[in-house]
Amino acid sequence: TPGPDSKAAEFGATGLQPQDQPIDQTLTTRQGHPLTNNQNIRTVGNRGPATLENYAFLEKISHFDRERIPERVVHARGAGAHGVFEAYGTVGDEPITKYTRAKLFQQKGKQTPVFVRFSSVIHGGHSPETLRDPRGFAVKFYTEDGNWDLVGNNLKVFFIRDAMKFPDLVHAFKPDPITNRQDGQRIFDFISNTPDAMHMITFLFSPWGIPANYRLMQGSGVNTYKWVNQAGEGVLVKYHWEPVQGIKNLTQEEAEQIQAKNFNHATQDLFDAIESGNFPKWELCVQIMSDGEHPELDFDPLDDTKIWPTDQFPFLPVGMMTLNKNPENYFHEVEQVAFGTGVLVDGLEFSDDKMLQGRTFSYSDTQRYRVGTNYLQLPINAPRKHVATNQRDGQMAYHVDTAPGQNKHVNYEPSSLNGLKQPAATAPDHMPQVSGRLIRQPIDRTNNFKQAGERYRLFEDWERDDLINNLVNTLQPVEKHIQDKMIELFTQCDEDYGRRVREGLQNANPNGQEALGQGRPIGAAHTNEAVKEAEEIAHSAQP
Ligand code: HEM
Repeated sequence: TPGPDSKAAEFGATGLQPQDQPIDQTLTTRQGHPLTNNQNIRTVGNRGPATLENYAFLEKISHFDRERIPERVVHARGAGAHGVFEAYGTVGDEPITKYTRAKLFQQKGKQTPVFVRFSSVIHGGHSPETLRDPRGFAVKFYTEDGNWDLVGNNLKVFFIRDAMKFPDLVHAFKPDPITNRQDGQRIFDFISNTPDAMHMITFLFSPWGIPANYRLMQGSGVNTYKWVNQAGEGVLVKYHWEPVQGIKNLTQEEAEQIQAKNFNHATQDLFDAIESGNFPKWELCVQIMSDGEHPELDFDPLDDTKIWPTDQFPFLPVGMMTLNKNPENYFHEVEQVAFGTGVLVDGLEFSDDKMLQGRTFSYSDTQRYRVGTNYLQLPINAPRKHVATNQRDGQMAYHVDTAPGQNKHVNYEPSSLNGLKQPAATAPDHMPQVSGRLIRQPIDRTNNFKQAGERYRLFEDWERDDLINNLVNTLQPVEKHIQDKMIELFTQCDEDYGRRVREGLQNANPNGQEALGQGRPIGAAHTNEAVKEAEEIAHSAQP
């Protein structure tokens, strides 16, 4: 897999080459000056004071002062790897051409390089990888038609179905703005007023909320997309990554044992596996549904809080991804990589899913701020094909995307002076008919509880026990009116679900005292005794 550290990246696409000098290990400044004293700043006498013309020192320290870029507002903690996607050329038993003209899927055995970034969502760049949190699963395909990003999570559903609610959801899960601690009281205050989240909460508080590591988890595009064929006809699709290594999740107790010893276990597991040649693989499967509202279903096909039942919409394999190369530089590749749901190639399309449309604005907007205006010129983000645009300049502009032989005075289009030319479309656009009043309203078939109840009943006993235990532990310090609202929501999913949480809370607080409302993070110790013990140790350690 071509890495980003090619000579072109080193010397830039300007065509400038270093002067004819041997390339050795001489330490220099970024200006190319040999750095003959990297131990001492320049001072008057060896005790100081220092002088201001210390260029080599000023250049070194001021670059250091700027070593960090803002971390991702969500999904800050991550690990990544390079690999390859190999197409089957079919979708299940059918030729793939029936559904999509996207070139990367067409021929059996066709290989496309990929870069993948796995992540956790809520906490900062060095937070423990054992926390209860969805895991990100973002894949960049460097296709012959330009880049395709499939930005997914490990879980197949999401908390909310309207992009307007995303900043509130994230604020509720992030640390309290005053205490700077994650707080179950704030989380369940929001969730008890957001019944859309019940399916996701049921997954998140079960062992599925702590995958054992990145290799042993699934991935899903979550939102509904479209595939478009050569005739411009579209179908709805959902994407799923199935790990060949299998799936393993952790109970809260198992996660705590790992966290006590290693808070980087998932990054380490991925890196070590690839380094030792044990390359992880995922099969890409799709579910397909004809385009339309499907009134016969009890959910809306564009609702990302729902799973499409596999008995009606089976998983159809389309290819295999293998991760086979670790990053050469974490910052260049894993930190600066930028994925977005708007990054699609011909044959792949958006659906009308309004969450997906909200996401699509958000990703490139944040990346222009987080990485910079010219983030697409960085080797990890640049397509592995020639790029020719009339976009120019901006902070950190690295080179000009011109075509060979073009008139370099022409940075606009149309032109008769040998500028870039708009190509003809090779296939008809997908042109769905859209009409309706402009409104702000939730969808009709919200059906918030049915699939959450089914999930509760589908869990194995140990998963259900862990779910109840984790919910009770997190809800126990939460104010009673919020507990009651949550019990009501769990009961609507399944009577047994509500009863077990209610009884768990009663047992945890037999005297029925009103909780103080002082919350606990969702990865807190799993028994009350353990919490008490930990709090005693923490207090006794204070001066
Ligand atoms: C990262 C916004 C929902 C998966 C991000 C980032 C933003 C964002 C701003 C940081 C990107 C960066 O700095 O490069 C949103 C909004 C959402 C939403 C506004 C809802 C309206 C979702 C959903 C999923 C998801 C439903 C799962 C399918 C991810 C992943 C990343 C991410 C995997 C990390 C990508 C990486 O590794 O660089 N999101 N998100 N997000 N989001 Fe979302």
